Amino acid sequence: MAAAGGAVGLGNIWRFPTETAENGGAAFLFVYVICCFLIGLPVMVAELSLGRATQRNAVGAFNALSKNPIYQAVGFWGVICGSMILSFYVVIAGWSFSNVFVEIFDYVGMTGPATTLVDTSNGVVNILFAALFMVATIFIVRGGVSEGIERATKTMMPLLLVMLLVLIGLTLPMEGAADGVKAYLQPDFSQIDRELILYALGQSFFSLSLGLGALITYGSYLSKSDNVVQSAAIVTLSDVSIAFIAGLLIIPAIYVAQAQGIQVFDDAGSLIAGPALIFNILPVVFDNIGGIFGLGLAVTFFLLLSVAALTSTISLLEVSVSYVIDEFNVARNTATWLMGGVIGTIAIWVSFDLGMIDILDTVFSAYGLPIGGLLISLFVGWVWKTPAAMEELKHGFPSFENSFFQKVWPLFIRFICPILIFLILLDLVTG
Ligand code: PFF
Repeated sequence: MAAAGGAVGLGNIWRFPTETAENGGAAFLFVYVICCFLIGLPVMVAELSLGRATQRNAVGAFNALSKNPIYQAVGFWGVICGSMILSFYVVIAGWSFSNVFVEIFDYVGMTGPATTLVDTSNGVVNILFAALFMVATIFIVRGGVSEGIERATKTMMPLLLVMLLVLIGLTLPMEGAADGVKAYLQPDFSQIDRELILYALGQSFFSLSLGLGALITYGSYLSKSDNVVQSAAIVTLSDVSIAFIAGLLIIPAIYVAQAQGIQVFDDAGSLIAGPALIFNILPVVFDNIGGIFGLGLAVTFFLLLSVAALTSTISLLEVSVSYVIDEFNVARNTATWLMGGVIGTIAIWVSFDLGMIDILDTVFSAYGLPIGGLLISLFVGWVWKTPAAMEELKHGFPSFENSFFQKVWPLFIRFICPILIFLILLDLVTG
């Protein structure tokens, strides 16, 4: 459940719809879903089994299985990617939380504070909310990944789902929404190009929390009676479903905003709002609903989004913290403040220079995570070797021997996943 909570986050509700809107709607969705199940799911099983077998962190897991120190670099790359992703993730998480106050101030007519908070280019406000998020994350990670997160996830996820469905029901009848549904669900396959595939792959890794060892770390907290394959399938299915449903709200909402005269795309078809897109679009929907009901929905939605973001920032920070604890013998408290402090300092920079979000996101999510996934697949498939990995997978999965999964997974992790990732990355590099 903690892994599912870590997977469901801004990746589903902020990043997925933004990427979809920028990369050709339904065609992107189509490639994205294929990436999640064909590449993401087998890599997730690899990460979780690596973690559970070694009982170590993202770097230590490689150390435990091979004497060759070069493989540690795979884990170390994950720690870097996780830390850099967290440094901009907290800023966007801050926007979801600040929107709770924007909606309230707007409702009671305090337009001054509302205007200040809604301005995503205000570095000071960005820092304030990002810091709030970082400190909350530090306090939870300091206590260790525990039932608290599972409990939060168990209540938050169903609530988020209900909330999304209610909002979809209210948004779809609005003017312009039908065009959004068409853009989201009617694929134009001619739009599939190298860039679309690369970004869909990056999005699948980001959303499923793959490629940086977050699930190696969480795998190390699983017990031998847990079924790793089943857990991975549940995490993938729930994550993809929530992203799909979020798209059904946000993409039509973009067209509703457009019908009301807000310019969303520039002449070249790029998003004008950039990473702040959903925070410009959703308030239009809540405004259209109006009244105390609209306010209630808005506040609940942004609060739930903040909790979803928090379960993800926790899993991001946990990667570097568990690395520092295990490998340098540092106490959890010190390690958490240290890594939280370093990453928080980078977040200050991001808060003032929002252009960094796109750069960090492209380097460490779109390229960084698939590179991590490629290396993890190669390690599990060829260094640890699939027979050993499958011995691990048998624990908690009694019918493993006769399963379809047992027949195809080695093929995927040794050949299909690494070759596909390599080809996708190479295409863009040479293109
Ligand atoms: N999967 C999270 C999301 O969709 O928001 C983001 C994330 C969390 C990525 C943890 C990577 C990670 F290790």
